[in-house]
Amino acid sequence: MSSMELSGRTCLITGANRGLGLAMATEFARAGAHVILACRTPADAAAAVRSRVPGASLEEATVDLTRLGSLRGLKADILVNNAAVVSDSPEHTVTVNLLAPFLMSRLVPASVVVNVAAANHRQVSDLEAPVPEGRRESYRHTKAVLVSLTLELARRSPVLASAFCPGVMATRLLDEFRGVPGNGTAASPRDSALVAVELARSGGTGRYLEGGRDVPPSPAAADPVVAARLWDHWSRRAGLGA
Ligand SMILES: NC(=O)c1ccc[n+]([C@@H]2O[C@H](COP(=O)([O-])OP(=O)(O)OC[C@H]3O[C@@H](n4cnc5c(N)ncnc54)[C@H](OP(=O)(O)O)[C@@H]3O)[C@@H](O)[C@H]2O)c1
Repeated sequence: MSSMELSGRTCLITGANRGLGLAMATEFARAGAHVILACRTPADAAAAVRSRVPGASLEEATVDLTRLGSLRGLKADILVNNAAVVSDSPEHTVTVNLLAPFLMSRLVPASVVVNVAAANHRQVSDLEAPVPEGRRESYRHTKAVLVSLTLELARRSPVLASAFCPGVMATRLLDEFRGVPGNGTAASPRDSALVAVELARSGGTGRYLEGGRDVPPSPAAADPVVAARLWDHWSRRAGLGA
């Protein structure tokens, strides 16, 4: 795998205002990338990154991922689809966790796409079943389909597309997933942010990582025949041609 210099490259990160997204914005900026903070509160995100990396090269983009029409016109060399929700509404979960990153990966002219997935995608065996009710079930389902579509993007295009699970981190999303406030045992997002930087830097495509290491995703998410059908289905749902 060829190594890529991040200095001078533009990296767009969704949900860059807190949690893993803020940690990744910080670490990509520290590595010399020009970082586009794509979130609902980009000025706050910029202040938070600058407090950690005073010389950071930053750009603010107000992006609400529930407004899919607003995602056109964004540009970057490296696209990091990070934002996600755990929601009582499966439709909300599908929009933010799946349709928005899928659309972004098709619309943003990036040469590298990094999608933030979750190891619990392994609990989903039928990726073509309707998205289930239930906050955890719909979350896992969207993550499983996202892994499948990431690998399909890698097969269909010259884009270097990979996904990784950041591991259990002490963030609001974890509390929402567990349904209880955190007990402080989960890791901070910084180590996972460094995995993302390394993933973007090291090149390669069609990769999936857990714990910072390349591992096979679930057999269902790795199935290319299923992925091709999912690509067509979710392209139609996103209003795109195949
Ligand atoms: N935490 C874990 O243990 C864990 C484990 C596995 C995978 N992950 C994955 O890691 C990624 C980051 O999650 P996190 O743990 O860092 O959670 P987090 O701190 O709760 O961050 C979630 C981010 O998503 C953004 N977001 C939600 N809805 C949005 C919308 N409509 N438009 C724009 N941004 C929106 C939030 O922005 P607002 O502040 O504007 O809401 C926030 O920046 C997610 O993909 C998650 O699935 C996390």
